[in-house]
Amino acid sequence: MRTLADLNAREKRVLVRVDYNVPLKDGRVADATRIRASLPTLERLLGEDAALVLMSHLGRPKGVDPAFSLAPVAEALAELLGREVRFVPSLPSSEETAEAVRAARPGDVLLLENVRFEPGEKKNDPELARAYARLGEAFVLDAFGSAHREHASVVGVARELPSYAGLLMEKEVKALGRLLHHPAYPYWVVLGGAKVSDKIGVIESLLPKVDGMAIGGAMAFTFIKAAGGEVGASLVEGDKLELALRLMDRARELDKPLLLPSDVVAAREIREDAETRVVPADAVPEGWMGLDIGPRTREAFASALAGACTVFWNGPMGVFETPPFDAGTLTVAEAIAALDAYTVVGGGDSVAAVNRLGYADRFSHVSTGGGASLEFLERGTLPGIEVLGGLSPEEVAP
Ligand code: 3PG
Repeated sequence: MRTLADLNAREKRVLVRVDYNVPLKDGRVADATRIRASLPTLERLLGEDAALVLMSHLGRPKGVDPAFSLAPVAEALAELLGREVRFVPSLPSSEETAEAVRAARPGDVLLLENVRFEPGEKKNDPELARAYARLGEAFVLDAFGSAHREHASVVGVARELPSYAGLLMEKEVKALGRLLHHPAYPYWVVLGGAKVSDKIGVIESLLPKVDGMAIGGAMAFTFIKAAGGEVGASLVEGDKLELALRLMDRARELDKPLLLPSDVVAAREIREDAETRVVPADAVPEGWMGLDIGPRTREAFASALAGACTVFWNGPMGVFETPPFDAGTLTVAEAIAALDAYTVVGGGDSVAAVNRLGYADRFSHVSTGGGASLEFLERGTLPGIEVLGGLSPEEVAP
């Protein structure tokens, strides 16, 4: 993978794809973790007197939609970077944007509007990729969280310009590469979240490599129902039951424990003041939904993880955004943070849990990628890595 070490950025106009897909609340950035994670690359390039043209997506807008404007991100970035950030509100491919970029001087920082306002972005339209490429003399891909997307601002433009991985890309690839290529054993994986369909690939590819997996979140109900359990009104992917059985069979064949919740916290509605009950995970009463792992499960997961030397965690154990259904996720975060192990967490809610507890520095690596980290662990590479030259075994050495 070509990196910043291969780029002489001195006084060049450098187009940087960052992942500023951050949560907004009341028109302000609610969590700046991803913006902060991009600063080392920006500061390094500014140290070489480059002019920076930054681009990112935000959310999943259908066409131009002011609710998905990156304007609030420009403000947050200016504050964190401690210098002016000029926001360019026109479409990234427009003549107005090209003009604003031409006027940029060494040391200037411009942030373009949401690339997903462009109809060709997700289709990786080559015409659009060429329009982006006209905005810089070199391209730096630092959007690890988007490196699994074959979009025009990620891979399309990288084919049109001399292109390099930013420092965040490099850091993420090294940290996650260690999980694939040099894990210390015992090695456990904790998965949660709503859907088993998002995690099939990573379960299949990691099962042979790990000592066991613990599965919480609503995805556990697809397994529990497939095994004949009564899950009440809990979320289940009805078309994935056979697949869940197949994954459980595979775990048995490999003699790897696939831990599922034995008890859950159930309610009839997802509300902070809803009446709750702790019930067996395979006997959830009719009309009730399992919304978090229960106390016995929390203990079982924590004791399975005790003694682990490597842990990867992705996905919440319950409806994390609605207390009290956040408790299981927080307990898992605490249990992993307490380990003397190589620990990696990825994915919005699981990272939010770690941050809420102030435990980010008690994890070996907090990934800025949710889907990207899963896909990297499944395939060992990503489209955004391949387009920068791909990985050699030395690049994933610990
Ligand atoms: C993420 O938040 O995981 C990335 O920014 C990718 O966003 P996307 O799933 O909308 O492509």
